[in-house]
Amino acid sequence: MKALQCVELGGVDKLEINEVSSPDVGPGQVLIDVKAASVNFPDVLMIQGLYQFQPPLPFTPGGEAAGIVEKVGESVESLKEGDKVFAMTGMGAFAEKIVAPEGSVMPIPESMDYETAAALSMTYGTTLYALKQRANLKAGETLLVLGAAGGVGLAAVDLGKAMGAKVIAAASSQEKIDMCIQHGADEGFIYPTGDLSKDQQKELSGKIKEVTGGVGANVIYDPVGSHYSEPALRAIAWEGRYLVIGFAAGDIPKIPLNLALLKGCQIVGVFWGAWTGIDPVGNKANFMELFKLHGEGKIAPEVSDKFTLDNAADAIAHLQNRKAKGKVIITI
Ligand SMILES: NC(=O)c1ccc[n+]([C@@H]2O[C@H](COP(=O)([O-])OP(=O)(O)OC[C@H]3O[C@@H](n4cnc5c(N)ncnc54)[C@H](OP(=O)(O)O)[C@@H]3O)[C@@H](O)[C@H]2O)c1
Repeated sequence: MKALQCVELGGVDKLEINEVSSPDVGPGQVLIDVKAASVNFPDVLMIQGLYQFQPPLPFTPGGEAAGIVEKVGESVESLKEGDKVFAMTGMGAFAEKIVAPEGSVMPIPESMDYETAAALSMTYGTTLYALKQRANLKAGETLLVLGAAGGVGLAAVDLGKAMGAKVIAAASSQEKIDMCIQHGADEGFIYPTGDLSKDQQKELSGKIKEVTGGVGANVIYDPVGSHYSEPALRAIAWEGRYLVIGFAAGDIPKIPLNLALLKGCQIVGVFWGAWTGIDPVGNKANFMELFKLHGEGKIAPEVSDKFTLDNAADAIAHLQNRKAKGKVIITI
């Protein structure tokens, strides 16, 4: 079978499409014929050796895939041949076939296509957990989303609206803001790129206060980090919840803790991958809720760019170069 392989750490130019032997299933595993896989930020980090988990070389990147169960291993009970599924494996998805442990695979509704399933799993799984279990977002509250046109960002815009919040989108270009407005964001504003000066950081805080009528945002969803986090936290509402999602801009910010005291706010870590292992029943319930919201037309994962497996390296570069809006999908 064909697979994208990282043969040397360093970036997309070290990736190769190779013919490799088809994997076989062991006990508790299923073999999936992959139809669509989606690109996530950890893929960008893993091929550079910058991710928290580093597989031995050569490896196939790709954390999530949707497809059809082709074969089930001994003792698999919840899945059968022919099931439409998605799988969260952390790696291995940019290939024609993937072997996944039963626990990482979930059936998808018959009406859902493979690209949507691949686009929905990590971004919406993370975001529903963040907004529901971690932030307890309530209808009528204000949700500020940084990096709002990115994978998890756009999911936060979509789910925030479905949960009845007033959603404010912040991103680096008008094109990205327009996309967020099309997805239901109530307002949006552009923030600067590069190393933000002290004045630019002050302006960012001021802008958030301005769009929230001076009150600040009740919940802040931050997948960006770096120079964006502290100014955003300075503009959180009293008893707000600041969701630490990720650090797409590279640097992990150091936050003065007096801000948490002064705002009476919570700085809340979100590690969805860990939670899925700790509470698989809760995670499954969240996905049932996501499938229901999708079936009712209340959420709509955005597939903005599609690549083939032969061009999978370009798909990863697209995300790395900050060009992606919504989800980047590899169709197989
Ligand atoms: N905590 C969890 O459980 C969890 C789960 C999934 C993902 N994550 C994390 O969430 C973050 C975003 O993931 P994603 O898949 O949504 O990525 P993505 O689609 O690339 O979105 C990230 C956004 O960050 C912004 N950004 C700011 N500086 C950037 C830079 N230097 N390079 C690239 N993007 C930059 C971009 O928006 P602008 O151009 O508008 O600024 C971009 O749209 C990652 O750090 C990822 O590891 C965490």
